[in-house]
Amino acid sequence: MRISIFGLGYVGCVSLGCYAHLGFKTIGVDISETKVKMINDGVATIHEDKIDDLIKIGRNQQKIEATLDSSYAVRNSDVSIICVGTPSTPNGHLNLDYIFNVCKEIGEALKLKNDFHTIAIRSTVFPGTNQKCSKIIEEISGRKCNSDFAVVSNPEFLREATAVDDFFDPPYIVIGSSSQKAIDIFKSIHKDINAPVFETSIEVAEMIKYVNNSFHALKVAFANEIGRICKKQGIDSHSLMEIFMADTKLNISPYYLRPGFAYGGSCLPKDLKALKTMSHDLYLKTPIIDSIENSNDSHIQLAFEIISKYNKKNIGILGLSFKSGSDDLRNSPMVTLAEILIGKGFNLKIFDDEINISNLIGKNKEYIEAKLPHFTNLLYNNIDQVIDDSELLVVAKKSYENYLVNVNSKIIIDLVRMKKTTDFDYYEGICW
Ligand SMILES: NC(=O)c1ccc[n+]([C@@H]2O[C@H](COP(=O)([O-])OP(=O)(O)OC[C@H]3O[C@@H](n4cnc5c(N)ncnc54)[C@H](O)[C@@H]3O)[C@@H](O)[C@H]2O)c1
Repeated sequence: MRISIFGLGYVGCVSLGCYAHLGFKTIGVDISETKVKMINDGVATIHEDKIDDLIKIGRNQQKIEATLDSSYAVRNSDVSIICVGTPSTPNGHLNLDYIFNVCKEIGEALKLKNDFHTIAIRSTVFPGTNQKCSKIIEEISGRKCNSDFAVVSNPEFLREATAVDDFFDPPYIVIGSSSQKAIDIFKSIHKDINAPVFETSIEVAEMIKYVNNSFHALKVAFANEIGRICKKQGIDSHSLMEIFMADTKLNISPYYLRPGFAYGGSCLPKDLKALKTMSHDLYLKTPIIDSIENSNDSHIQLAFEIISKYNKKNIGILGLSFKSGSDDLRNSPMVTLAEILIGKGFNLKIFDDEINISNLIGKNKEYIEAKLPHFTNLLYNNIDQVIDDSELLVVAKKSYENYLVNVNSKIIIDLVRMKKTTDFDYYEGICW
């Protein structure tokens, strides 16, 4: 298997050296004469641990060469990996010109090539780019996508300063393509890398890098806000965060990371408010902590907007307490949603078999009576009646999915990601 690599910057140079180390014949392509010459002189184009040796050894073993001639590179390789830059435009959009230029060059080169060619987009690109690239290559080459060539989305997870180590030891390998043949080729190229392989949709493969990097940025900025609050109070932020990180059940874990409905309950909203107030009282700026509640409120508002766009008056709410297994209604986002719907003139019927009106006491009772004064008239103990009498059903607890098996004529709004999302005539998930 011969690999051509378009773009000899950070990602391209590391890929060139590392694939050569794995035993592949590699050809680097760049529009910079200087970078091409450096590679042909056995010199890495970037400053990065371990890469100098890989380029030097690969070049000495004649496993690496570089060229300005993209056509030569495509004709002498089976796979082309695109690693050119995707800089931001001044208004925050992505400049994909470099990617599309490479696709045009590959398209031209494929006119002269009959063998199947696999093209991988390793640069970080917006969802939809893979399809645009396939189209450009198809139009220019006259070849058919997925029979003469295929385009794979295969993002890179390396970090500068540890790029070579990250290449050989990535968190995972993600491959998205509409061609199984191309996916298999990519799997075989990476067979010596010990990492889980995720075969996924093209769009997920294109999106994952943005989610990863944004989450990493969020982690850094959140930890720094906590650090600022701690410093002002003479608390050692590092001792604190060591303990925070030691909770691998809820903190550093997949918990709370699946898109669903808004958070609520008696603790999260209250304690977040307290932290925000603490920060304000210390005259600190902590915009992430300040904005979490806004984000949560927008999610409840979104649920309302989704429901109202269907123009149905009779709404069934399946689940009202703040989570399954609890009858706590305090700060339940479903209570807020119900309150908004009632305020806007919708007719509500609510089912939640975890709430027993006669058992509600104390703050829980006070809360619901203040929020939904006619609550007892809205709560039904027969789910079938709520389903029958409603035009639109809002599913807020997973267990109620079982009651919806043959419910086809109703609109289903899913806030919990039910298991079967395709069984209904009218179905919409809140954020999927
Ligand atoms: N730098 C990182 O740590 C990193 C990590 C993962 C992903 N990425 C993504 O990978 C992509 C590349 O990043 P980078 O940091 O390696 O960029 P870079 O700017 O270092 O390198 C890009 C190279 O592409 C070359 N190029 C431009 N047009 C070309 C063409 N038509 N043909 C051949 N070469 C061409 C440029 O001359 C340059 O050498 C970006 O989308 C980036 O977001 C970067």
